[in-house]
Amino acid sequence: MKLTYPMQTAPIAADVPRSHRVYFEVFGCQMNKLDAELMLEGLKRKGYFLVHDPDDAGVILYNTCSVREHAEERAVMRMTSFKKRKQQEPELIIGLTGCVAQHKQEQLSQRVPWIDLIVGTREFDRLPELIEEARGESSTLLATDMDSPLEFVRQRNLGPNRWHAFVSVMRGCDMVCTYCIVPTTRGKEVSRPPDEILDEVRRLADTGVKEITFLGQTVNSYGKRLGQGVGLDTLLRGVEEIDGIERCHFITSHPRFLRPKLIQAMAECTKVMDYLHLPVQSGSDSMLARMKRTYDRSFYLHVIDRLREKIPDITLATDFIVGFPGETQEEFDRSLSLVSEVGFDHSYVFQYSPRPGTVSDARMSDDIPLDVKKQRNHQLLAAVSAEAESRNQRFIGRRVEVLAEGPSRLDESRWAGRAGDHRIVIWPVQDDEEAGSFVVIEVDRTSSATLYGQRVTGPTQRPTLQISK
Ligand code: SAH
Ligand code: SF4
Ligand code: F3S
Repeated sequence: MKLTYPMQTAPIAADVPRSHRVYFEVFGCQMNKLDAELMLEGLKRKGYFLVHDPDDAGVILYNTCSVREHAEERAVMRMTSFKKRKQQEPELIIGLTGCVAQHKQEQLSQRVPWIDLIVGTREFDRLPELIEEARGESSTLLATDMDSPLEFVRQRNLGPNRWHAFVSVMRGCDMVCTYCIVPTTRGKEVSRPPDEILDEVRRLADTGVKEITFLGQTVNSYGKRLGQGVGLDTLLRGVEEIDGIERCHFITSHPRFLRPKLIQAMAECTKVMDYLHLPVQSGSDSMLARMKRTYDRSFYLHVIDRLREKIPDITLATDFIVGFPGETQEEFDRSLSLVSEVGFDHSYVFQYSPRPGTVSDARMSDDIPLDVKKQRNHQLLAAVSAEAESRNQRFIGRRVEVLAEGPSRLDESRWAGRAGDHRIVIWPVQDDEEAGSFVVIEVDRTSSATLYGQRVTGPTQRPTLQISK
């Protein structure tokens, strides 16, 4: 059994009791993955170990996502599959954490009453004590208080790569996008103090982390309510001073908050990667208004212009939703035409999924047939892929600095890593490859998502992000 999110594990001594063996499955966004890492860190401090097979575990945890319907149903199905085992093994602890737990707390305790724990998005720091409490209970224990101050001092990185770590800078979201469940599952926006964040980054750097990804639902509105001009730029400039950290970037930004001060910091800080994920959702003004995204197409284009004035070669990724209620062919065409007008390098495309509890679900009917949603999804992805393929040509002949990750999944005779703009780079393996080190690759071929090339000798450290010939 392979864990869906491969957190770092240590070998387990044979005498670790079953009650302290945890199986953890993780769904959802990076934020949910980081929360799972933090939960595991808390559990490890109390003597728990991660196992890869649920049959070996005395504690089974699911960190869940609500953003689309199938993700939520999958969590319930998994819980259902454990009903029999729980009957045979009453001491087994089954816990549901994350966004579904927060959102569907009451219904869940009725739909899957054999589960022991439902832990929301702001109480997971109490997980070890909640598990102990649940051991003595016959009914489901609920811990879903939204006002609870999440108190967790992180010491280590349990993410899949020891040289990369996610760092949460804020929780929640104050926006009201009509399709989105996240503000309900994650609550109001709360920014962590900058000193606390930068201390965490320093500790991570001491353990060998070289690359940081700051996380927030609208990460570029970071600092709201902290006062004194604190913003995401404060954090980027802070990271610049931390020895050991070579690269940083941040997800996910909202077009409304991409302010000049932030763009300036992105351009000036050598460690900030040349990459921005800026979800647009639609290219049509009427759709953007129905989605309550708080900007229109021309505002988005204006923001991109301002960004490219300072960082001309920046790699741009986005998200689109297709099949939002009432989406006409003309409205969809506006999304299609935006792809080339902006020149996106990558995009996720999601088919609209009505979420109970959202405004679009309550007030609009999900009237775009599934086959139309699918067709628009394909069409938009094809447009993005064609655009990305032609944009990637600009890399041919360039030398790019790459953080090596390991053998390519498709072909062991090649290695893969990430360029300074987060793009995947592939090259023929050499004897001295080392995961987590920097190499220089001269690009000789590109596809829509990947750069291919040869390793060349040259500086293996920063400061140069892309070394032109
Ligand atoms: N906070 C981020 C992303 C939140 S969810 C942001 O605002 O950009 C990630 C993506 O899921 C969104 O960008 C959106 O494209 C998609 N999404 C959110 N709700 C959805 C829904 N109900 N149906 C389909 N896609 C959805
Ligand atoms: Fe959802 Fe909008 Fe907030 Fe993103 S900004 S999490 S899409 S409500
Ligand atoms: Fe899903 Fe929650 Fe993230 S709903 S996308 S796991 S914030």
